[in-house]
Amino acid sequence: MALRRSVLTLIGSKKASLRVCGAKHFSTQTEPKEDDKRKTHFGFETVNEDEKTKKVHQVFETVADKYDLMNDVMSLGVHRVWKDIFMMRLAPTPGTKLLDMAGGTGDISFRYLNYLKNKDLSASDKPSSVTVCDINQHMLDVGKARAERQGYSKEPSVHMEWLCADAERLPLADDTYSAYTVSFGIRNCTRVDKVLEEAYRVLQPGGRFLCLEFSQLPNSTMQWMYDQYSFQMIPVMGQLIAGQWKPYKYLVESIRQFPDQEKFKSMIEEAGFRQVTYENLTFGICAIHSGFKL
Ligand SMILES: C[S@@+](CC[C@H](N)C(=O)[O-])C[C@H]1O[C@@H](n2cnc3c(N)ncnc32)[C@H](O)[C@@H]1O
Repeated sequence: MALRRSVLTLIGSKKASLRVCGAKHFSTQTEPKEDDKRKTHFGFETVNEDEKTKKVHQVFETVADKYDLMNDVMSLGVHRVWKDIFMMRLAPTPGTKLLDMAGGTGDISFRYLNYLKNKDLSASDKPSSVTVCDINQHMLDVGKARAERQGYSKEPSVHMEWLCADAERLPLADDTYSAYTVSFGIRNCTRVDKVLEEAYRVLQPGGRFLCLEFSQLPNSTMQWMYDQYSFQMIPVMGQLIAGQWKPYKYLVESIRQFPDQEKFKSMIEEAGFRQVTYENLTFGICAIHSGFKL
């Protein structure tokens, strides 16, 4: 058990992590039987839960190489502003131990490193760290290559590690992190309630949960306009730029399926978090949800 946990915790060998990640998420032997039969949605399709996990995995495996480019194109660069605001709301201090869940190609963790550096906080004697966790090794590999290219992997004062694991069952000890972020990731998870429970478990008392996710526009005319843009344009852009239609169709459908701000706030509270609040960005196209383990 201890050996298995240490293998999962730090991805020293790509081969080992791929095998462990795959075995962990696609073995039906370790899953409870009734879980396999539970239904959920994959975009507008109704599927078994285990099927959703596989399909989401395929989506991000397919888009990993073009993921960063497509984010810029689809949001006209606005996702960068949302993520900058997200990091300002987190406002990390020296000694922050961050777990960036569904961290993909590293956008949030790189902002975290920049934030500490720009505020001259990374040189403090309180060691800070970031663990980028994602279920998809392909996304992590793109992130690691970016970290190399952009010099983040050589950042001496903040420890950075990459972990391939499922947000719903983390190979991490209780009360470990002082902050948990998840940006545009949670709606892709099969059991959002389990993800929230795990977030609560691995956070230290006093730790902060912060989630950036697409949400619902409160005004029906704006929602209609936004729907026209997303349903008519985004899959077309996906086809033209990344040569893929289906993953981008899933993307817009999954946004529609995700609970609205109030419902998601209640789910965060049900997981045990306190002082739960949210802030709409760009009229509610997305929202930052915040909570504390108190
Ligand atoms: C839209 S990307 C977000 C990446 C990054 N956080 C960002 O903001 O650009 C969603 C990520 O969620 C990951 N993901 C989906 N289900 C997951 C799960 N159960 N556990 C961990 N990561 C998951 C996917 O592999 C993908 O990398």
